[in-house]
Amino acid sequence: MNLLIMGLPGAGKGTQAEMIVSEYGVMHVSTGDMFREAMKDETEMGKQAKAFIDKGELVPDEVTNGIVKERLAKADIREKGVLLDGYPRTIEQAAALDEMMADLGLKLDVVLNIDVDPSILVERISGRFICRNCGATYHKLNKLPKVEGVCDVCGSRDFYQRADDNPETVATRIDINEKQSAPILTHYRELGLVKDVSGMGKIDEIKTSVKEILSAI
Ligand code: AP5
Ligand code: MG
Ligand code: ZN
Repeated sequence: MNLLIMGLPGAGKGTQAEMIVSEYGVMHVSTGDMFREAMKDETEMGKQAKAFIDKGELVPDEVTNGIVKERLAKADIREKGVLLDGYPRTIEQAAALDEMMADLGLKLDVVLNIDVDPSILVERISGRFICRNCGATYHKLNKLPKVEGVCDVCGSRDFYQRADDNPETVATRIDINEKQSAPILTHYRELGLVKDVSGMGKIDEIKTSVKEILSAI
């Protein structure tokens, strides 16, 4: 199964992706996670991406398309399928993805669109904290680790908040994403691939809706 998960910053893409990956065994390809990894390792690409990410702007398409193309060509994608999270983010990226997938003989099965009222996004993002060791995502009100201060997944006690999760950058990210996502959704709706999921309920309720959709594929 090959799928995309779309939604505004903080809508819950990464949260639902964790469930989809553990349930369906697909490979999680998040361009945001790849950029954060590259920034942590201080690679050339990471340094280039940081200048945009710190401002809440999009990393240029050539860079983003390049890293996705390289990743999709790996054997695990063909064997297990892929869940793309945070890509494509521009209509040009969507065109590039269509071409890459056609070249690799991969077919997109579904586009999950997590639909939320933008007014809730700041609360979700400002409460988010992440395990530095494994990347598991938590929320100070909505999703605390089972044991306080200890990651459920890997047992680490080292958490951080994303540098781009400050109010100013978040406002830019939401604004850019609202503008850029409309034509992408139109493109995939024309192909009959979009399944809309309300992202307004509890995390588990949304998981149930996502599972219902995916089990029908
Ligand atoms: P990226 O990392 O993709 O960030 P984003 O799109 O802004 O989305 P987030 O990761 O912030 O939100 P999410 O939807 O994953 O929410 P989460 O599940 O964590 O991109 C970062 C940057 O990288 C971009 O700004 C850009 O600069 C660059 N970039 C990335 N991809 C790019 C591309 N393709 N092209 C160019 N540049 C690119 O949930 C949020 C919080 O809410 C968590 O704390 C969670 O626990 C909580 N939560 C989740 N669901 C619920 C719920 N139902 N109820 C209550 N709380 C919930
Ligand atoms: Mg995310
Ligand atoms: Zn962890």
